[in-house]
Amino acid sequence: MARLDEAAILERIRDVTDPDFDASLVALGLVDVEVSRRAARVIAHVVPGSSGVADAVRSSLRERLEPVGVETSVEFLDEEGLQRLAERLETPQQRAARERREPPFSRAEASTRILGVSSGKGGVGKSSISVNLALALAASGARTAIIDADVYGFSVPKMLGEERPPRVVGDLIVPPRVRGVRVMSLGFFVDDATPVIWRGPMLHATLQQFLVDVAWGEPDDLVVDMPPGTGDVALSLQEFLPRTEVYVVTTPQPAAQRVAQRSAIAARKLKLPVRGVIENMSEFVTDGGQRYAIFGRGGGDVLAAALGVPVLGRIPLTMALREGGDEGEPVVVAHPQDPAAVAIRELAARIVSLGHARRYRADLRIQSR
Ligand SMILES: Nc1ncnc2c1ncn2[C@@H]1O[C@H](COP(=O)(O)OP(=O)(O)O)[C@@H](O)[C@H]1O
Ligand SMILES: [Mg+2]
Repeated sequence: MARLDEAAILERIRDVTDPDFDASLVALGLVDVEVSRRAARVIAHVVPGSSGVADAVRSSLRERLEPVGVETSVEFLDEEGLQRLAERLETPQQRAARERREPPFSRAEASTRILGVSSGKGGVGKSSISVNLALALAASGARTAIIDADVYGFSVPKMLGEERPPRVVGDLIVPPRVRGVRVMSLGFFVDDATPVIWRGPMLHATLQQFLVDVAWGEPDDLVVDMPPGTGDVALSLQEFLPRTEVYVVTTPQPAAQRVAQRSAIAARKLKLPVRGVIENMSEFVTDGGQRYAIFGRGGGDVLAAALGVPVLGRIPLTMALREGGDEGEPVVVAHPQDPAAVAIRELAARIVSLGHARRYRADLRIQSR
């Protein structure tokens, strides 16, 4: 068999990626090729800390190179290699902003849409909707990230079925990419049996770090599972993510909407635009198609009317949604035909069609002559 040259070898493995990076290992300069007259060998480098990633890369390389007689191995990057990689993961502008401790999403020219999912109280499905909405947006082709900022109950990593912590590359944090969605959670920094009793300043610093020191790339959409509307975390988030659009989740009983209204009022006090209402647990539909309004009716409409915004979705109660959350197999992925999955995809489409919130731009003010 004719020996492959270096270019041909690289060509064969050009599509091998580290699942947490957007670019191929070859493009990131993480592959060495040694070709002699007697043998050819490929050494791929990965970030230490995830044996799962090393295994995945190893098997992709083997699959492509073993049949053509090229040996492969996977090694962990050393400090110097990590620092070099960190430099490739950011543009010079991104690095400069980070050195100024500027959250990447707060810049006026940043194009990422920030979708804050909020509710007046826990248990209404805020995290379930955040996770499934992020997955629905990613499935429609948007580069999507999700931040779990509800310090009183981190559930996003578990619901996504991935609790692999972020990896550290030089001075950058690379959040895991799960089913195409980049995920950051305060929960990665604390264990879930320990209640968070940090003081405001510590939470503020942690939030800042997890926005600033993270290799986010440039997502089209960033879904934020928001903390309760008042308090330190909400204030910090507003400071770091001033362009957040707020979507309020409520259940359908008319009494619930008053609680939900609080979070909308808090958002408006923070000068965040409230774009719409999401009614969750709207109805239970039996396999036979019979509908039961277990939590009553009308809450979404009452809230939307009070806030002067539309109801953007009504998500039915389904077993598949609940089980998906518990098992880390979100319903939009595991059961795309489930009525809740269908409703969440419709919700995502409506949010996309709403477009960016209008922003006040001083530079666009009409000049008086
Ligand atoms: N539409 C729904 N159908 C069935 N179960 C749901 C639905 N929405 C939420 N749940 C379940 O209700 C519980 C609370 O949801 P969760 O998303 O954690 O709420 P929150 O983040 O508002 O506290 C979870 O067990 C979740 O699976
Ligand atoms: Mg939650």
